[in-house]
Amino acid sequence: MDAAATYNYTVVRQFTIMTVVWGIVGMAVGVLIAAQLVWPALNFDVPFLTYSRLRPLHTNAVIFAFGGCALFATSLYVVQRTCQTRLISDGLAAFVFWGWQLVIVLAALTLPFGITTSKEYAELEWPIDILIAVVWVAYAILFFGTLVKRRTPHIYVANWFYGAFILTVAILHIVNSAALPVSLTKSYSVYPGAIDAMVQWWYGHNAVGFFLTAGFLGMMYYFVPKQAGRPVYSYRLSVVHFWALISLYMWAGPHHLHYTALPDWTQSLGMLFSLMLLAPSWGGMINGIMTLSGAWHKLRTDPILRFMIVSLSFYGMSTFEGPMMSIKTVNALSHYTDWTIGHVHSGALGWVALVSIGCVYALIPALFNRQIWSTRLIEVHFWTSTIGIVLYIASMWIAGVMQGLMWRAVNEDGTLTYSFVEVLARMYPYYEVRFLGGLVFLLGMVVMAWNVWKTLSGAEKPVAATAPQAA
Ligand code: HEM
Ligand code: HEM
Repeated sequence: MDAAATYNYTVVRQFTIMTVVWGIVGMAVGVLIAAQLVWPALNFDVPFLTYSRLRPLHTNAVIFAFGGCALFATSLYVVQRTCQTRLISDGLAAFVFWGWQLVIVLAALTLPFGITTSKEYAELEWPIDILIAVVWVAYAILFFGTLVKRRTPHIYVANWFYGAFILTVAILHIVNSAALPVSLTKSYSVYPGAIDAMVQWWYGHNAVGFFLTAGFLGMMYYFVPKQAGRPVYSYRLSVVHFWALISLYMWAGPHHLHYTALPDWTQSLGMLFSLMLLAPSWGGMINGIMTLSGAWHKLRTDPILRFMIVSLSFYGMSTFEGPMMSIKTVNALSHYTDWTIGHVHSGALGWVALVSIGCVYALIPALFNRQIWSTRLIEVHFWTSTIGIVLYIASMWIAGVMQGLMWRAVNEDGTLTYSFVEVLARMYPYYEVRFLGGLVFLLGMVVMAWNVWKTLSGAEKPVAATAPQAA
């Protein structure tokens, strides 16, 4: 039977293409702000082009537009294939797609004009927040409704991760965005002082845990076994690490607020839960990588699989680094420095972007019934991404540790050895390397867009044997 007629592939195709488009837009803004940190003249003295306005545009574009579209595309594909049933409503699916694109466009219009709540990763003002909530509820109905009418006896583990991501993000968004509007473009958080900070980082850390992790683990649990042509290494481990991951993440938020007005015991609790998080995180990584056991040779010939396995390695690395940075004495050195930025991008570029890219390459043949135009270009993309990430995170690690050590250096009489500007001046070479790394990574995305374009404009060809087939 023709899969494209049986399942709703339209919405999956739309979200897949927009993943590539928003990836390029969001990362181009990332490269621009990285350049502004090296050449301040690039702020052009125009308010809506200043670093402060473009930085939230970058974070929103890469997390919610690029990452979001990848999550929508894969979850709506996986739920149909593993439940062997069509989405419950084509109309609702179209609403979710167009609603989410509207949210993205509104974000791109308001943030550069300084319309912001100033809550990190939740900057959008209240009317857009309401739209997000409506679209998200529609998405939840679509996903869980399809799950309910499944034709298979049990729910495949990838759907557990997607389900947790959808439910939790709904709760996080609604609680964290509670605000008193004073005009159409301005509102104030309903929470006071330190409580506001606590709610903000409860949201912020779980945005990492559920938006940037659980959903992508869902992707990993479907696409890695498919691409490797092997079953998941341990189904039992996947269930254990699912429950451990979702129950521990909730408590780790205070590690973002070490040495602040937050009660000390809360900070220690956050640190403790962060340390424990290492176990389920590595459980997931090991389960993904070991799925390849007996098929390691495929890594030599399949660049898509390489994207996925390297992304898991970065996942392992960033979830080792995170718990270490949550230790209060380590955080005393790393906080406020570029080390945090290095950590963020080893997770964001290394894990989130690489696994998404791998899945897009795996999805396109199945969705459009065409073989990818050039495997050689996927290879090129793989190497540009990897080199770009290494340049980015290695420069930020060195810059971060240097900053931390120079800021805390004191003379014998107790005065600071270095002024802030002296430390900043030493950062330039590292900011240049980061800019170069970002540019190389972005170039890889442009190569991907070209490859996808050529694939779609070519004639239909039978799908390669490695592409995801019926579950
Ligand atoms: C076990 C898992 C993890 C733990 C315990 C952890 C812990 C931490 C810690 C301690 C910080 C520094 C907070 C500060 O000093 O302000 C941090 C920052 C951050 N981490 Fe992680 N991390 C983990 C995994 C990840 C992953 C996989 C990603 C991305 C996909 C990520 C994204 C971020 C972001 C975006 C920030 C910066 C937040 C901000 O200040 O804006 N983390 N993390
Ligand atoms: C070409 C690729 C990219 C470049 C050049 C880039 C560049 C940057 C720069 C310059 C900053 C500001 C750093 C600072 O405040 O000192 C930043 C922040 C950030 N970027 Fe990226 N980025 C890229 C890709 C991504 C991707 C794909 C994601 C997520 C999926 C991401 C997530 C973030 C986050 C969460 C922050 C805020 C970090 C924090 O507050 O601690 N970036 N990026």
